[in-house]
Amino acid sequence: MKNIDSHSHVRGESVYLDDIPVIRGTLYACVFDSPIAHGKLKSVDTSEVEKCEGVIRVILAGDLIGENQIGGIVPDEPLLADGGVHFVGQPIAIVLAETEEQARKAAKKITADIEPLPVVTDPRVAAANGDLIVPPKKFVLGDTAAAFADCAHVFEGRAEQNGQEHLYIETQGAYAVPMESGGIRVYSSTQGPTAVQRAVCRVTGLPMHKVEVDVQRLGGGFGGKEDQANAWAGICAVATQITGKPVKYALHRMEDMRMTGKRHPYSSDYKIGLDADLKIVAYEASFYQNAGASCDLSPPVLERTLFHCTNSYYIPNVTATAYCCRTNLPPNTAFRGFGGPQGMFVIESAIAHAAEKLGVTAAEIQRANLLEDGDEFPYGQLAESEAAASWSQADASFDFSALRLEADEFNATSKYLKKGIALMPICFGISFTKTPMNQARSLVHVYTDGSVAVSTGAVEMGQGVNTKMAQVAAAVFGLDVTMVKVHTTNTLRIANTSPTAASAAADLNGKATQIACETIRERLLDVAASMLGKETSEGVALSDVDWKDLVMEAHLRRVNLSEHSHYATPGIGFDWSTAKGHPFAYHVYGTAIVGVTVDCLRGRYEIDYVKCCHDFGTSMNTAVGLGQIEGGIVQGLGWMTMEEVVYDENGKLRSNALSTYKVPDIYSVPKEIDVLPLHTNRNNLAIFNSKAVGEPPLMYGIGAYFAIRNAIKAFRDCEPEFDCPFTPERVLMNLYSEPNAEKN
Ligand code: MTE
Ligand code: HPA
Ligand code: MOS
Repeated sequence: MKNIDSHSHVRGESVYLDDIPVIRGTLYACVFDSPIAHGKLKSVDTSEVEKCEGVIRVILAGDLIGENQIGGIVPDEPLLADGGVHFVGQPIAIVLAETEEQARKAAKKITADIEPLPVVTDPRVAAANGDLIVPPKKFVLGDTAAAFADCAHVFEGRAEQNGQEHLYIETQGAYAVPMESGGIRVYSSTQGPTAVQRAVCRVTGLPMHKVEVDVQRLGGGFGGKEDQANAWAGICAVATQITGKPVKYALHRMEDMRMTGKRHPYSSDYKIGLDADLKIVAYEASFYQNAGASCDLSPPVLERTLFHCTNSYYIPNVTATAYCCRTNLPPNTAFRGFGGPQGMFVIESAIAHAAEKLGVTAAEIQRANLLEDGDEFPYGQLAESEAAASWSQADASFDFSALRLEADEFNATSKYLKKGIALMPICFGISFTKTPMNQARSLVHVYTDGSVAVSTGAVEMGQGVNTKMAQVAAAVFGLDVTMVKVHTTNTLRIANTSPTAASAAADLNGKATQIACETIRERLLDVAASMLGKETSEGVALSDVDWKDLVMEAHLRRVNLSEHSHYATPGIGFDWSTAKGHPFAYHVYGTAIVGVTVDCLRGRYEIDYVKCCHDFGTSMNTAVGLGQIEGGIVQGLGWMTMEEVVYDENGKLRSNALSTYKVPDIYSVPKEIDVLPLHTNRNNLAIFNSKAVGEPPLMYGIGAYFAIRNAIKAFRDCEPEFDCPFTPERVLMNLYSEPNAEKN
């Protein structure tokens, strides 16, 4: 079944924030942001602004009626800078004008007197200075110190990873509208309507019942709007509160790139120990996370790095430590995979390192260590593993040795084009790692004409969650999906929502919807039975009577045709005092093989194929699932290859536009993406056994890094550093950094 939005998307009729009709009298906001990464904010001069045409007023930190704070986990993030600035792009003042252009023009007229302070952009420097946002986190399984002593082989190294710009097509933005008795309605491009509601309440001082947040859909979020939509909603709400007018702010692309955080860069150390049979016996890793200037979601991102630091492998002795380092960059935030990909890149680097030194392929080490049922993760949960199944089915379908032979034969005769391949198994835990977040609610109304309205806490951002919600309701009632309408995500209809994140939105909100629909269905079955003159226990089906007649009859009998249901994932939990537990409802597995061709004269490369066997469980919508897999793979490839976030030593973003930040386009997607569904039928907590698919496929992209590295190694004998992204420039430097080192 197609995504229910596809028709309106291709016709340009889908409604995003900027398509909401504005009310007369609406003011437009624009932020004046810090030009300096760290400093003492001595004064702000707004005298020139007030003379500008159309300007209504300027708002500074001191004007806020509520608290000047939006930090959710640690209160270290003012809405507007007060006393100090901590990154280039930090909002200092809000300019309100009659038009967007006037607001933007006027904001440029503000100046600030800032006394510069030392700028830190490197997480290791921050850690050495003791500037950690939260205490280090640690996972321990077995005893690495003892185990290393017995290992036949031990290798140590370092891995560097850069960030990634979310580049949602729709930039951040919000529209606040004043309501009766001091209330505010906020339209926001957010993954977390409740997070926005809380932030708005904090900065305005309003109680939550006076603030309504409404989300139609997002033009992409990718984690960037889990927490970082809050600021713009807060800015609009504060301005509405102060002026009594509706206020809108939709960021320009360059404002968005400059002012918002990205995927966290990491710098990591690893130590891996293997026995003579290539079994990984011990693994140690230290992760230095570049959190940026304030906490944002950095601690849970850091935790997920630890949760995924052994990827799909069973390693009996593990010590992994992670540091949340404060730097003078925009606060980094959630991004598809939520720290998991960073953990996986490091273990894959360690395996590639060991393989290189031992003269075997990385695949031999990977295969020898795949998780089996009952194996313990470093955090205590036991695996229900599909790792070997996905590996062997991928091998059976795609024939790894034939692909390897093809590359070797090509390389034997080709001097300047070299092929490289790499295997990339994945294992990703599904559930918010913070257990209380794993709950959701759904409100279902059956109207007297038989049509069905569903509201949940899930936000549609292109991933197809609304399609799945409609499918759930349609399936329970035995209706065509056109009879179901999924409405906006709204805090008045659904309260206290978790953000749409962790790939868990379909499961959590789908289960809540299923419960609501089943409850109504039970009531309708009683009515149907009585209409047929039977007992319900005699096995009546909804389809035994006409749906519309049934609904109308139920209404006439005063039977409740609405339900508001709650779902909380059973059986999960995690204890941070021991760093052990069962945090995930289940894991998603898969294995990809990635093939590339590197042009060894120019450093350019093409991704020839990504072939994967992916664990869908039993997909409830393969079209949506395939879309998520293809999109995730391309986004992962972008992170590993061409996307390079560059800040200079002064903390200024150099890759600040699409002319300087390259993302995959249609020409850089793999020539071939093959997806082989791994149908698994184990009982799991996925909605209709359809496993979450939003984030895991991104991690197949990591294979491209190692495939390119292997192609370089086919050109010359070298050991490229583990430092992503592998931009063509960096490939070229690896190909020629020492003269005359060619093999051929
Ligand atoms: N797909 C599209 N088209 N747009 C997005 O913003 N976000 C990803 C993923 N797929 C995203 C996407 C991220 S980061 C997550 S956590 C999941 O979708 C969230 O949605 P789900 O829980 O419904 O899978
Ligand atoms: N994933 C995504 N977002 C989150 C998580 C998580 O595990 N925890 C808190 N926010
Ligand atoms: Mo996704 S990073 O959990 O929004």
